Amino acid sequence: MKKSRAAKPAVPKPGNSQVSPGNAGEPQPMPVDALCSDMLRRPRRNRRTASLRAMLRETELTPAHLILPLFVTEGKNQRSPIRSMPGIDRLSRDLIIKEAKRALGLGIGSVALFPVIAEALKDTIASASALDDGLLQRTIRDLKAAVPGITVITDVAMDPYSSDGHDGLVNGGKILNDESLPLLAAMALAQARAGADIVAPSDMMDGRVGYLRRALDAQGFTDVGILAYTAKYASSFYGPFREALDSAPKHGDKKTYQMDPANRREALLEAELDVKEGADMIMVKPALAYLDVIMAVKAAVNVPVAAYHVSGEYAMVKAAGQLGWLDPNAAMLESLLAIRRAGADAILTYAAMETAERLNG
Ligand code: PBG
Repeated sequence: MKKSRAAKPAVPKPGNSQVSPGNAGEPQPMPVDALCSDMLRRPRRNRRTASLRAMLRETELTPAHLILPLFVTEGKNQRSPIRSMPGIDRLSRDLIIKEAKRALGLGIGSVALFPVIAEALKDTIASASALDDGLLQRTIRDLKAAVPGITVITDVAMDPYSSDGHDGLVNGGKILNDESLPLLAAMALAQARAGADIVAPSDMMDGRVGYLRRALDAQGFTDVGILAYTAKYASSFYGPFREALDSAPKHGDKKTYQMDPANRREALLEAELDVKEGADMIMVKPALAYLDVIMAVKAAVNVPVAAYHVSGEYAMVKAAGQLGWLDPNAAMLESLLAIRRAGADAILTYAAMETAERLNG
């Protein structure tokens, strides 16, 4: 079609309005700028009504996409709040069961368990992690018996059990790779024997996915899945989690095994290796500051991709909300939606319960 722009005046004249003037005192419609009148594409038409917006929404967030992390402590009817994670408590096993039932009722199908281990039980080889009657193993057993419909995901890394507070074995200040693998496998096997559905190595040792896969298969646990923490960054956003478990490294940092926040290409290498080694799902962690990594990894692999909306990301929204600086509920939903939009199939988030309630409500 031929445009007739040349025939129109280049500058709108004051008397050029298409709307007739109303009564004095009423808001007057602005004059229509002649330069806009031949606009063919108007994306706002698709945003005009709530039902149009709902019809055309590209990304879905439902409770089924959420995985609820839970902190487990010893005792009965014990609930201790975590200072830097408002609304999140460490829970004893009986309360974990209640919480998992409530989650399932809201449509959240999976929980990820993290045990709080007493300092006296920690040692350099994380021996408490491989005990069949260890806290985590007892919790898995109770939970699978009481709430069989829930998928139980367990973390494989030495830090909650290690007197060094590192994810692998430490020797002379170095984190040993190959020597850590049998210890991680012993931990994963104890979790599998207790009934874990999915083990999730978060340690970032090289070769651990393949090592765990073989160890599980050799013991007949071919149905136990592996959710690999594939691109786990050495992030400052884990602070509140380390407070919750009292698991901060006693010396040094985690930069020789967790990834450099500056790197994205390296995440693709980690993803390629983890898939080759047998990971059923892979994970990017943290989530919000790494949306580009989620997107890149998602495009590169053919396994589901999870993202961990970590403790610090949760704490930031809650803190700003407490200060009255933003609407924490809306900001939380927006954060999780963004993580889904970037390509995450599933999201681990401490906001899983409140979000499911809101989504269902
Ligand atoms: C343990 C582990 C950590 C998190 C999950 N598993 C802490 C760490 O690596 O130091 C962090 C989760 C969070 O911050 O919510 N390896």
